[in-house]
Amino acid sequence: MKIRTTRALQCSTALAAAGLLVTACGSSGDGGAGASAGSTSFQGRGPITYVAGKDTSGVVPKVIDRWNRLHPKEKVTFIQLPTDADSQRQQMIQNAETKSDAYTVLSLDVVWTSEFAAHQWIDRLPEKQFPLRTMLKPVVETAKYRGNLYAAPASSDGGLLYYRTDLLKKAGVTRPPATWSEMTADCAKVKKLPEAKGMSCYAGQFQKYEGLTVNFAEAVNSAGGVVTDANGRPHVDTPEAKKGLDFLAGSVKDGTIPKEAVTYQEEDGRQAFQSGKLIFLRNWPYVYALAEKSKAAGKFAVAPLPGLNGPGSSSLGGHNLALSSFAKNKATALDFMKFFSSEDSAGTFLRDASLAPPYTDLYDNASLVKQYPYLPVLKQSILRAVPRPRVVQYGDVTSAIQQETYAALTGSKSSTQALKDLQNDLQHATAQ
Ligand code: GLC
Repeated sequence: MKIRTTRALQCSTALAAAGLLVTACGSSGDGGAGASAGSTSFQGRGPITYVAGKDTSGVVPKVIDRWNRLHPKEKVTFIQLPTDADSQRQQMIQNAETKSDAYTVLSLDVVWTSEFAAHQWIDRLPEKQFPLRTMLKPVVETAKYRGNLYAAPASSDGGLLYYRTDLLKKAGVTRPPATWSEMTADCAKVKKLPEAKGMSCYAGQFQKYEGLTVNFAEAVNSAGGVVTDANGRPHVDTPEAKKGLDFLAGSVKDGTIPKEAVTYQEEDGRQAFQSGKLIFLRNWPYVYALAEKSKAAGKFAVAPLPGLNGPGSSSLGGHNLALSSFAKNKATALDFMKFFSSEDSAGTFLRDASLAPPYTDLYDNASLVKQYPYLPVLKQSILRAVPRPRVVQYGDVTSAIQQETYAALTGSKSSTQALKDLQNDLQHATAQ
């Protein structure tokens, strides 16, 4: 993806030369993005739109209707984009590049904050008007760019290991696996059961899209490696990263991961797990509420992701609410963002759709923990989660990761070669 404005290009080039790869322009409240966004006056009232990926859980209209009943002259229309993150990003960028006012409030994936803020596609938000202190700190960080708030944390996401409790129990396995080798050993035991006939061991999101970046980063981090260091510099040409990628590529090769999983996004894996095709599945919390309504109900639980030598680490996911710089009716938009990201709304999203809330105390709420016993596990998963590279050039970074990981998974490159090529690509992308 080579979409960027001339000004942002100049800024990131200058900063790259200074070694500040994770940042671009608009550093202080007085210059660049900070000045224009900081001076946003949030004026105008009237109808607006809320733009997000497809609402698989069906809970969004319920919350929007609540707003619309209370604000008949400031109605919100819900625009649903495709399910996959890359298509959502493309459409949001197109909207920004044409300076269209069609999109008002954007449900922005946590990995896009830097890119959208640096290009001045979204407005800086008044920090004091959002209850950030009551939220999990890593989640709040995802909404900031160069120390300023550009989005309101709405839902977080941490990867979880879904597993079939009924089958593990029957096979004599008493606790979920903490390591990849325990997981494959458990699968071997379960597969001996007649009811596991035709089942596969494990899947995640392995189609060539953002989900693959998530799963690659988790594999690398869970083997003790990093994708980028604290300064945004790539380090994937390492023995640790190789162990992570080898786990994925080796699992496809030996059938631990079924071949068709290289076409899986989140929803495909969920369907496969719910219909009894998988023993283990890596997926996000939203799956829990849907699976509880499926024929897998009562037969599954969730655990932390496994890793090479012990529990693994999740990639930090989630969505925040950002305000398109080109939108009209920004006073309405700001109010709607406060409403939609409030603890009350987060409670509805959690209760109805098991979305991970940004609010700390919802994870410790007794009745919610009764409904979703995994909440303490999820909280830890989010607190320990590793953010994907926080770079302005995120589009280039993620497409390089997708390209090389996919080549290794499908056997067209060795993992050593894929990581070597990826290191070069990432060095190039982050040095632009
Ligand atoms: C989820 C996560 C998001 C991630 C996407 C990848 O929606 O919340 O952060 O990028 O999955 O498919």
